[in-house]
Amino acid sequence: MKILVVGGGGREHAIAWRLSQDSCRPVLFCAPGNAGTAALAQNVPIPAEDVPALLAWAKANRPDLTVVGPEVPLCMGIADAFEAEGLRVFGPCKAAARMEGSKLFSKEIMTAAGVPTARSLAFADADAAVAALDGFALPVVIKADGLAAGKGVVIAQTREEAAAAIRAMLVDAVFGSAGAQVLIEDFLDGEEASILALVDGENAVILPSSQDHKRIFDNDQGPNTGGMGAYSPAPVVTPDLLPVIKERVILPVVRELKRRGITYKGVLYAGLMIGPRGINVLEFNARFGDPETQAVLPRIGGDLIPALEACIDGTLHDGLINVRPEAAATVVMAAGGYPGNYAKGNVISGLGNALPDTVVFHAGTALKGGSVVTSGGRVLAVTALSADLETAVARAYEAVAKISFDAAHYRTDIAHRAMKL
Ligand code: AMP
Ligand code: GLY
Repeated sequence: MKILVVGGGGREHAIAWRLSQDSCRPVLFCAPGNAGTAALAQNVPIPAEDVPALLAWAKANRPDLTVVGPEVPLCMGIADAFEAEGLRVFGPCKAAARMEGSKLFSKEIMTAAGVPTARSLAFADADAAVAALDGFALPVVIKADGLAAGKGVVIAQTREEAAAAIRAMLVDAVFGSAGAQVLIEDFLDGEEASILALVDGENAVILPSSQDHKRIFDNDQGPNTGGMGAYSPAPVVTPDLLPVIKERVILPVVRELKRRGITYKGVLYAGLMIGPRGINVLEFNARFGDPETQAVLPRIGGDLIPALEACIDGTLHDGLINVRPEAAATVVMAAGGYPGNYAKGNVISGLGNALPDTVVFHAGTALKGGSVVTSGGRVLAVTALSADLETAVARAYEAVAKISFDAAHYRTDIAHRAMKL
């Protein structure tokens, strides 16, 4: 079986790594991949956003399955383009990917489906939006409608800060057309968790819960990043909540989309806030989370490919996913300076010092003259699996200590909140 994985970060390395363990031993391709995927797959030098070139490659090479990692190609319609050529693809069509691509659309679906979420109002006019701030308590949340590479959400502590964020999006167009409309939203308190659900258009299978760490520094200080670590399971998602999340969050969305003639197939990711106001949805994503996937997929035992195929065929059921009882912790090693400016091309050493039950997923790495060098802000995602979360965290940090590159930075408190709960 030939499988193409689209993307080149830690999430895609984790997907390729997990697929490589399926009993059918697939032949893997990764576009564009990184130095880590190069060890399991043949890297194809096509960017994940170049849908026409990916389609041309797929028409020539006929993969049996394509698994799409990032949101941008999904929102561009890669699934529609591949399906039109008879190519099987795991990932939602363009209309369904709007659950991530437009926060206004996602709110509209949540409201119609009765999914619990923060109260919000949408605006295209800055003066009207600023005037509406009076109807919201502080802090208040300002969100750009479209894709903004994880930077489109501002938690404003003052009305001045909120007004500045609104004007930056609607007047200065800092996110281009992605910020042509904004949402003003009530701030929700609580503990965040990520739920990744496999969806086949009608049914869903909930994967193990996880939590990521968005801020760059320990104790959730400093600017937001793409994610500095993750762990699974997230204790805030007690086992009794999983069926509630499936029935009240995931399935109502799938049904509401279906009612509108949109079939959702792939991963539906719900970013949840669990707190005094119960379970609320902060956002939906149309794909596996990064770095949640690096903690969640190692916890799936048995084969994964039949479950992905069942999503495409509309034959998904719980028996296709086998969850391992171990906990997983993932520590991201980033380049110093990230999420601001950082150096690239630093040689990474110690990658060969593997420990049992740990995997070093590559994110921003490349091969250069026989060495593995840094090529992105988030460089590695080091995952350990163990009977309990404390041991998994300790193991992950032991593995991190064996790896070095100039100006490496990582958080030292991954999963600490879970261990205090
Ligand atoms: P999003 O891109 O929608 O996931 O938002 C990014 C981050 O902003 C989330 O992970 C939360 O930490 C935070 N956030 C988004 N919406 C809210 C909200 N209504 N209340 C509190 N925090 C929020
Ligand atoms: N970890 C957050 C995301 O994948 O969007």
